[in-house]
Amino acid sequence: MKNLLVTGGAGFIGANFVHYMLDNHPDYKIVNLDLLTYAGNIHNLDDIKDNPNHIFVHGNIGNRELVEYLVDTYHIDTIVNFAGESHVDRSIVNPGIFIDSNIKGVLNLLDITKRKGLEKYLQVSTDEVYGSLGPDGYFTEETPLAPNSPYSASKASADLLVRSYYETYGMNVNITRCSNNYGPYQFPEKLIPLMIQHGLDGLELPVYGDGKNIRDWLHVYDHCQAIDLVLQKGKPGEIYNIGGHNERSNNQIVEIIAKRLHCEDRIKYVTDRLGNDKRYAMDPTKIETELGWKPKYTFDTGIGETIDWYLDHEDWWRPLIEKAKFDRFNYQG
Ligand code: NAD
Ligand code: DAU
Repeated sequence: MKNLLVTGGAGFIGANFVHYMLDNHPDYKIVNLDLLTYAGNIHNLDDIKDNPNHIFVHGNIGNRELVEYLVDTYHIDTIVNFAGESHVDRSIVNPGIFIDSNIKGVLNLLDITKRKGLEKYLQVSTDEVYGSLGPDGYFTEETPLAPNSPYSASKASADLLVRSYYETYGMNVNITRCSNNYGPYQFPEKLIPLMIQHGLDGLELPVYGDGKNIRDWLHVYDHCQAIDLVLQKGKPGEIYNIGGHNERSNNQIVEIIAKRLHCEDRIKYVTDRLGNDKRYAMDPTKIETELGWKPKYTFDTGIGETIDWYLDHEDWWRPLIEKAKFDRFNYQG
């Protein structure tokens, strides 16, 4: 493996992954295909725009001619797919685009992987495909799929397509399922960057429902490292759960941010998200024991550094907020 097509590499995790791979594998070439939707940001790649090992291409993973052209031209041997719609709230309002990008787009990538005989296809998936947990227990790779939102249903559908390409055609595929990521370059619609922005701008900090929902937080750097390991050592057809055993309620997350920004008085309980999953918690034993993955970040260090990053990079996120004001006029599902 040395010529990677990374899709969605202008988004939050994808951009972190492209940086991670260029830093850790200077002998790899990375072709980065991204549609630059509202969540894709070319400025996430400013510091690598002159790197000869990184080629950015603006386009859709569903565009068959384009993806085939890239595979042929750059002798692609591996596809890592981050591209897609990622926000649960948007999927509740507008599910159509989630079907197009998260399912039909994946089908196109799988089909091209098969026809071109590529070495590997890696699908970046999510713990949300497993649904919601009660107060105890963890998601393992054997937990049945039970997605609850249009977003997670689209991701679960893609996972099943990936599985079918392994079972039917014997393709070398892997699926990684990760818990909630945090870190630099996350679009400020997601819990952590949104609360930081609201804290700084004198706005209310809107906690959905009672704020007792639990997410299992993982630093994006540790996620990137795990994906790299699966690329190098993952066994064909296998699924790997990734999570850092950092379960926190939304209330705990918002309190950390509010305390740091001295705005505890602006925490406001608002109407819950429809179907808001109660608890996610990953069992990462398989990737730890079989591939030797070990997260580097403790949650305390990671969240502190992340808040600092957003405080130091207002010039990165403020234009995104401005642009998002007009989003509803352009968004088509
Ligand atoms: P993001 O929304 O920040 O980025 C998604 C990127 O995909 C954007 O750059 C966007 O322009 C691009 N994109 C969307 N549709 C496309 C298309 N049809 N063709 C090409 N590019 C397209 O998302 P993220 O948080 O970085 O998540 C990346 C992937 O990881 C997603 O598939 C998501 O389901 C999965 N995931 C995310 C998390 C998380 O906590 N953020 C956790 C587990 C899994
Ligand atoms: O678990 C992995 C998933 O994590 C990924 O697959 C998704 O792509 C990613 O967006 C994320 O999904 P969540 O729905 O868990 O993340 P979000 O940041 O949208 O919300 C986290 C929790 O915080 C959830 O219970 C809803 C709540 N919330 C969110 C927002 C934006 C609030 O209370 N207030 C808010 O304003």
